[in-house]
Amino acid sequence: MRYNLDMSFKIKIFGKNKAKKQFEQVLESPNRKIMCLVKLKNGRIYYAVKKEGMELIKESKLGFLLRGESELGAKLVLVRMQKKNVDEVWETLVGEQQEIRNNYNEIVFYLTEETDRQRMFSVRFRVFNEGVAFRYEIPPQPSFQRIIVEDELTEFNIDLNGQAWRIPAYQATKYELNYEKWPVYELRDAVHTPLTIETDSNKFLAIHEAALYNYGSMTLKLSSEKILKADITPLSDGMKAYLDLPFESPWRVIEIADAAIELTVNRMILNLNEKPKEDFSWVKPLKFLGIWWAMFVGEWTWAEGKKHGATTEHAKKYLDWCVALGVSGLLIEGWNNGWSGEWSLGGKCTDFLHPVADFKMEEVAEKACRLGVELIAQHETVGQVDNYERQLESAFAYLVSNGVHYVKTGYTGAKMMINNKMEYHHSQVGVLHYQKTVEMAARYQIMLNIHEPIKGTGIERTYPNILTREGAKGQEYEGGKLNLNHATILPFTRMLTGAFDFTPGIFDLKNPAKRVYTTLARQLSYYVIFYSGMQMLADRPEVYYSVPKVFEFLQKVPVNWRITVPLLGKIGEYYVVARQDRVTEDWYIGGVTNENARRVNLNLEFLEEDIKYTAHIYRDGGATDYRENPLEIEIEKRIIDKNEILDLWLAAGGGFAIRLAKGY
Ligand code: NOJ
Repeated sequence: MRYNLDMSFKIKIFGKNKAKKQFEQVLESPNRKIMCLVKLKNGRIYYAVKKEGMELIKESKLGFLLRGESELGAKLVLVRMQKKNVDEVWETLVGEQQEIRNNYNEIVFYLTEETDRQRMFSVRFRVFNEGVAFRYEIPPQPSFQRIIVEDELTEFNIDLNGQAWRIPAYQATKYELNYEKWPVYELRDAVHTPLTIETDSNKFLAIHEAALYNYGSMTLKLSSEKILKADITPLSDGMKAYLDLPFESPWRVIEIADAAIELTVNRMILNLNEKPKEDFSWVKPLKFLGIWWAMFVGEWTWAEGKKHGATTEHAKKYLDWCVALGVSGLLIEGWNNGWSGEWSLGGKCTDFLHPVADFKMEEVAEKACRLGVELIAQHETVGQVDNYERQLESAFAYLVSNGVHYVKTGYTGAKMMINNKMEYHHSQVGVLHYQKTVEMAARYQIMLNIHEPIKGTGIERTYPNILTREGAKGQEYEGGKLNLNHATILPFTRMLTGAFDFTPGIFDLKNPAKRVYTTLARQLSYYVIFYSGMQMLADRPEVYYSVPKVFEFLQKVPVNWRITVPLLGKIGEYYVVARQDRVTEDWYIGGVTNENARRVNLNLEFLEEDIKYTAHIYRDGGATDYRENPLEIEIEKRIIDKNEILDLWLAAGGGFAIRLAKGY
């Protein structure tokens, strides 16, 4: 735990008899546009937030209800304050942006109760140019060593007239839902964070959390006083968290923007996490094929039998496909014991240490190693965490002994079995489990793609071996189950939490076994729209091989970006983003629209001066239609520079993708 006081900071100590009962302190962002007002009034601490004079968060309460204890947050006095400013630049190993600036002003407010027990805690506030964050810190005290959190009282007292894009919490499908636009005054049932809101005054807020460890995930709902309030995911006994002190809560984060696309490059969540404590230079992002979509379209099965997908023969053939298509990884699902029958029964006995009879791990691993292709082994736990944890270390050791350094974990099921109890994925014990796998994986130099995950709170800054996660409704739902506006909402909501394994790249769009309702050009755009440190080429390799000109984009598009420049966006309508490859410094642009066709004019001012680029443009044609004619695509190649305005047509449910290669 990191509860230390660095005495070099500016500290204001009020002295024994000078503790303050009332105070108001303003903390400004470095550019002085955002103001956070923290005050102590009648023994309680409150905060409020303004941007350029406009009140965005009205006086909001802080504190905790603890079991067997009086409320922590009342009868307070301020005993000291500690300030600091930080302005630094750090580098991501893998990400949307290579260099990230971390610039904020901080004040820690040290509070003590005026009661016999004199319990102490502090609240650390940071104000960035892009928003406000704060967290609670409770040190161990002689008569206060362990707490049980019944409720976190944190409020986000925003104007109720705003509109939010919500997905409800506590659902069996976890985060896998289409987003709905919802009036804030109707958020009576808990919703997940990040919660993105357009205020009545046309500002954009995203309320989320950073550095979630050993605590329940924060959801939000209106309190009985009609104030948006934290609602921590409970454990099966109804409590929110059992904690040994010291405790640092996750950061409560309010991202603030004048335009929605500014939110998409807000880096507060990563900045509020700590740098890695170990060397992660072994982490390598990659693109991968998978023994996967063939299961979704019914050609193969996860379970053993005549149509079993993960056989030695299929895996070896797919490894050859990786070489032929120039893809560096291969995901294998259904390779271990547990899929035949056990899966549907709940996976209580799934075995992660032994392959099924028709999958010879050593043989496949030997070929993968010879061809230089990375294997990605799936660990589908079906939410049976107790069963998985019993095997976790040996399962990772087994894979590494076969040269496998990538694992896709999975936790299907409405809840998880942890310590013999059914618990929410997002409860404190769920969070602890995900953390255990991340740390164990790091020990074995294993990189993770987590499906049915805990939401992203930026911990990949500290553990860069988390290359991606699911945590939203992905393409596997298709067959009409994804709203056409989904991809135009995600960049402003789910994507604020980091990498997403959306599983893009379905080219066989008209397959009646699983229709995918987009145009082909849109499938290419997803590689730029949805950042993922492990990016799937989700369709079957034969399908790619048959359209080499279109596939060329997938071959070239990188997964690790130097710079990200959002160009256009309206939540639920359209989104266009440009990103630069870290290695070649070529630029890529992706654009998507909702159910409405539209034309966009793209200004290329972000390109370098005096450089000509060869533009490879993949776009919908005039007759392209996601229902009847999804495969029609126009591919154009021409020389352009930064002075050009690109005029692009997006069909309904369509999109475009552009590669701008330096030179001509
Ligand atoms: C759901 C995951 O999202 C998907 O990728 C996986 O194939 C299935 N579960 C089976 O584990």
